[in-house]
Amino acid sequence: MASCAVLASGTGTNFEAIAARIADSNHSVAALLSDRRNAPVLKKAQALMIPAYFIPYDRNRRTTFEQAASIILRGLRVDLIVLAGFMRILTSQMIEAFDGKIINIHPSLLPDFPGTHAIERSYASDHEELGVTVHFVDNGLDSGPVIARQSFRRSMEASLEEIEIEVHAIEHSLYPKVVIELLDRIEQEKLIGMAAGE
Ligand code: GRF
Repeated sequence: MASCAVLASGTGTNFEAIAARIADSNHSVAALLSDRRNAPVLKKAQALMIPAYFIPYDRNRRTTFEQAASIILRGLRVDLIVLAGFMRILTSQMIEAFDGKIINIHPSLLPDFPGTHAIERSYASDHEELGVTVHFVDNGLDSGPVIARQSFRRSMEASLEEIEIEVHAIEHSLYPKVVIELLDRIEQEKLIGMAAGE
């Protein structure tokens, strides 16, 4: 068994999709952390009996949030940190402290359209192939090593709302699949480590 924690700022549809898939696995979602007191994702976690933490975020003192989050994440010994609509940029200290353990989902085919409003900017472009990227988090903006990408060919007649629905549907199937695959791999590594007497 391996465990993850999800960091989210908003609605939490990706969190819900991940929690549903993990409930059918031998892994667990150990916690949901949010930087927004009224984020709907907090209620979603509570309804699923997943420990939910609101940690205030001060953009002038980013490390305060990160220190509190790190205490929780280390206390729960989580193996993977899953950013799902987490609207803050982590400091390099946090990224280095959890090196290679933080992943993110972005609603475009990176490296195209990093940053905010990615779906709107993809939609406004002349790109015929749109999609979603899951990547490890590094110190850049949506720039870390890609783990998985899934694309679709858009209809140029489709509305923005229709494209959003398509992008989110891909997110909700791709992200849980990637999270489970990573947790499976981490579990395997733990078993190998135990067998080697580490
Ligand atoms: C998703 O589109 C994700 O790719 C982006 O923020 C959105 C979060 O949606 N980073 P939700 O809170 O998971 O519903």
